[in-house]
Amino acid sequence: MSNTAILEIDGKKYEFPVIIGTENEVAIDIDKLRGTTGAITLDPGFKNSGSCKSDITFLDGEKGILRYRGYAIEELAEQSNFLEVSYLLIFGELPTQAQLEKFENDIRKYTLVNEEMKNIIDGFPKNAHPMGILASLTSALTAFNPQQVNVGDDKQLYDAVCKAMGKFLVIATWTFRKNMGYPLNYYDNTKGYVENFMRLMFELPTGPYKPNPTVVEALDKLFILHADHEQNCSTSTVRIVGSSHAGLFASISAGVSALWGPLHGGANQAVLEMLEEIQANGGDAEKYIAKAKDKDDPFRLMGFGHRVYKNFDPRAKIIKKAADDVLAELGVDDPVLSIAKKLEEAALQDDYFKARNLYPNVDFYSGIIYRAMGIPTEMFTVLFAIGRLPGWIAQWKEMRLNKEPIGRPRQVYTGSPLRPFVKQDQR
Ligand code: ACO
Repeated sequence: MSNTAILEIDGKKYEFPVIIGTENEVAIDIDKLRGTTGAITLDPGFKNSGSCKSDITFLDGEKGILRYRGYAIEELAEQSNFLEVSYLLIFGELPTQAQLEKFENDIRKYTLVNEEMKNIIDGFPKNAHPMGILASLTSALTAFNPQQVNVGDDKQLYDAVCKAMGKFLVIATWTFRKNMGYPLNYYDNTKGYVENFMRLMFELPTGPYKPNPTVVEALDKLFILHADHEQNCSTSTVRIVGSSHAGLFASISAGVSALWGPLHGGANQAVLEMLEEIQANGGDAEKYIAKAKDKDDPFRLMGFGHRVYKNFDPRAKIIKKAADDVLAELGVDDPVLSIAKKLEEAALQDDYFKARNLYPNVDFYSGIIYRAMGIPTEMFTVLFAIGRLPGWIAQWKEMRLNKEPIGRPRQVYTGSPLRPFVKQDQR
């Protein structure tokens, strides 16, 4: 591979360096493009544009590969746990036992959320969507933790990471308790992180609560699978907001908002709503497949297709197995889940879906598994956010430590040329 690329504009040739990544990914470095040629690139949706160099996650959409810091997602899901993977993503290496224990203990120092945050929650309508509340509460944490983190100071940075990991889990579950009218509760520092998630969600003051270990284990795995996915919509948002040197909570709050959309993390909720709709209309999966193929119908099969995975989503493979295990273990018999199976089988055999490489993605199966676990549909994307948190933190930290410039894309202006102002009575 040549180490330069040549661009010709108006008969004049310009050379640009070619950069090769660790896994032989090829990129043309156009940092000097506008300065030397006066031209910019146009790439809506950034389908062809790299926004940064990153050491965190590698994925190959054609081959269905996903690795965190060089470790295969399959091995991590099988052998690691969510806090260990969080440490790996954020600090770059798998922790020793002592480092992991310290990390878990340091997170516990920050699991108490300022009581005044409860006044903010009180202000939301009871039926507000949990993702909207979560974005607001995450942003509000900035007000309660106003001190700017000096990213050059390892201790300050480490404490900020632990604080985000501790407080975010608590406020994320409070969005559900608000919705249910349950009293807001506290993290139990004698218990594990994922077990605490279940307690924070479902424990009531009226009786003892013991989370099902199969559910805790499956959730831990789901969080690992969601933990990072390189420069996706919400992560790019976190990096771009952080590039203005906005704080960690403010950047994460923006990530939550980006994740909420149904084309991104909100798809797991949309999948279940779609399955429920199919069931309510007689359970005819074929009819909905036909609708998805109809160009005059805006309907899309939620949970199918992916911007980068064009063969299969390696996370979907792992989750599909976890979903089968959990459904068998919990003995769940749910007609909506049978519709999911029918839809999956029918779409996988359909030429339209085959030709466009549309396979079930991670959200298709995660919605199913969450439902079997008794998690309400509106909370699905919040669970995605809890899983994605270490990825957002790792990417924010990398962006700041690499001293990346403020994110500020260009545009091609296609509006009106200069025209004189028209007074109101002459319009
Ligand atoms: N149902 C029906 N047709 C689809 C679907 C779908 N779910 N997804 C893509 N297509 C079709 C498009 O109509 C298009 O067809 P055409 O070539 O005949 O015009 C072709 O497949 C390519 O689609 P694009 O929209 O160009 O693909 P893109 O990579 O931009 O979109 C996306 C990816 C947004 C994920 C899309 O597949 C989609 O909307 N899926 C449903 C929502 C979803 O599940 N999102 C979760 C993504 S995973 C995540 O965020 C964790």
